[in-house]
Amino acid sequence: MRNIVLASVAAGLAVLAAGFVPGEPSAQAPPAGGPGRQPASPPAPGAQGEDALHKAASATFKPIPSMVPEVKGNPVTREKVELGRMLWFDTRLSASGVLNCNSCHSLAAGGSDNLETSIGHGWQKGPRNAPTVLNSVFNAAQFWDGRAGDLRSQAQGPIQAAVEMAATPEHVTKVLSSIPEYRDRFKAAFPGEREPVTFDTVTRAIEAFEATLITPASRFDQYLEGNRAVLTAEEKRGLGLFMEAGCAACHNGVNLGGQDYFPFGVVERPGADILPPGDKGRFQVTKTASDEYVFRAVPLRNVALTAPYFHSGKVWSLEQAVGVMGVAQLGKELAPAETAAIAAFLRTLTGEQPRVELPQLPPSTATTPRPQPLVKNSLEPAAAVQRQAPPR
Ligand code: HEC
Ligand code: HEC
Repeated sequence: MRNIVLASVAAGLAVLAAGFVPGEPSAQAPPAGGPGRQPASPPAPGAQGEDALHKAASATFKPIPSMVPEVKGNPVTREKVELGRMLWFDTRLSASGVLNCNSCHSLAAGGSDNLETSIGHGWQKGPRNAPTVLNSVFNAAQFWDGRAGDLRSQAQGPIQAAVEMAATPEHVTKVLSSIPEYRDRFKAAFPGEREPVTFDTVTRAIEAFEATLITPASRFDQYLEGNRAVLTAEEKRGLGLFMEAGCAACHNGVNLGGQDYFPFGVVERPGADILPPGDKGRFQVTKTASDEYVFRAVPLRNVALTAPYFHSGKVWSLEQAVGVMGVAQLGKELAPAETAAIAAFLRTLTGEQPRVELPQLPPSTATTPRPQPLVKNSLEPAAAVQRQAPPR
C-alpha cells in the first residue's frame, strides 16, 4: 500500500496537462481561466477537442469490467457467492438480530444508507459515513482510512464493531454451526477445509459475494468504450474540468479513487462543520503525525446515489461537495457553472446496479443463540473507531 505522496499529485497533473488541453483546439473555447471567470453556457468542443478529451480520459480512467473480477487468494465460486449472499442478509450475524450488512449498505440504495453517519447496535450513532460497497473489490484499501487491505479482513470489522453489529467470531460460528443447511453450504463452498464453518470462511464467502457487486455500463463507461455521443456537451465539459482542474490526480483509475490517501485539506483544511477535529483519519492507523486528517481519496462511482458526502456525511449536495474539494484540495474557487458541469459529469458514473435476489434463510434451531435486540452498549462514538482497529 502506498502512503501519501503529494509529489504524485503534481506528477499526475503534469501528465494530464501534457495529454490534454481542454478547449484549446476549439474556436468556441472559453477564455483562459483566472479567478472569478464566469463561463456562460458550456461550449461544445470541436472535433479535435473531442479526440483530445477522449484520449486523455482513456489514459486516466478505466471502465468497470462486465465480468466479476478475480479475488486474490479466494476463488469466486458459485457456492461461495450464494453463501455470501445469505450471510450478507442474515441478521443473526449481529448480536441484536436486527442488523445485517444490508442495513447500512442497502443494495436498493447504491450500497449505502444515505445517513450522515451510520446507526448501529443499540441505535448508536457511528463515527463515520458508510461508503458504498459497490465496486469496492477494485479498491486498493478499504475504509475511509484504508485500515483493511482487502474485503476479507474488512468484513471482520463491522461484525465485531461495537457500534455496528456488536457480535463476536464465536457468536457467528455458533449461530451458523447450529443450522444444518448452513453447515452443508459451508462444506460445499469450502470443500478443502477440515472445519468449514469458521470466522475466516464467513468473511471469505462475504468477500466472494461482494466481488459480484459491480456496476458496469454507466454512461461514462460507454463513453470510455468509444460511444462519444452518449455524454452531453455539459457532461463532457465537466469531464474536461475534472481533469484540467486536477481532481483526476487523486480520483482516477477504475473507481475514480480508492487507491491512495491524501490530507483532507491539501491546500486549505475545511472547517469543523465538515471536518470534525475528533476524527484524525489515517493517523489513527499509522500514528504518524503527517497522517493527521489524511483520508482515502473516495471512489466516485455511483456518487449520485450515495449522498451525504465526506467521511463526516455533512454535505448533502454534490455541487457543494465539488466546491469544497476545489477549495480544500486545489485552492480553487470554482465558478457555479464549473461546479455544475463537474457534478453533471459525476452523475454519469451511475452504473447498472446489481440485481440481487433475496435469499431464503434457513430457520434457527433449538441450539441457535437467541438475539438480544435491547442490549445497550455505552461506547462513545469516538472510541468506536479505535475499537474497530485493524483486524487480526
Ligand atoms: C451499522 C452500519 C454498518 C453495518 C451493519 C455494516 N457496515 Fe460496512 N461500513 C459501515 C461504515 C460506517 C463504514 C466506514 C467505516 C470507516 O471507514 O471507518 C463501512 C465500511 C465498509 C466497507 C468499506 C468500503 C470502502 O469503500 O471502504 C465495506 C466493504 C463494508 N463496510 C462491508 C460491510 C459488510 C460485508 C457488512 C456485514 C458483515 C457491513 N459492512 C456491515 C457501516 C456498516
Ligand atoms: C489531493 C487529492 C484530491 C484532489 C485533488 C481531489 N480530491 Fe476529492 N477527495 C479526496 C479525499 C481524500 C476525499 C475524502 C475526504 C473525506 O475525508 O471525506 C475526497 C472526497 C471527494 C468527494 C466526496 C465523495 C463521497 O462519496 O463522500 C467528492 C464528490 C470529490 N472528492 C470530488 C472531487 C472533485 C470534483 C475534485 C476536483 C475539484 C476533487 N475531488 C479533488 C482527495 C482529492
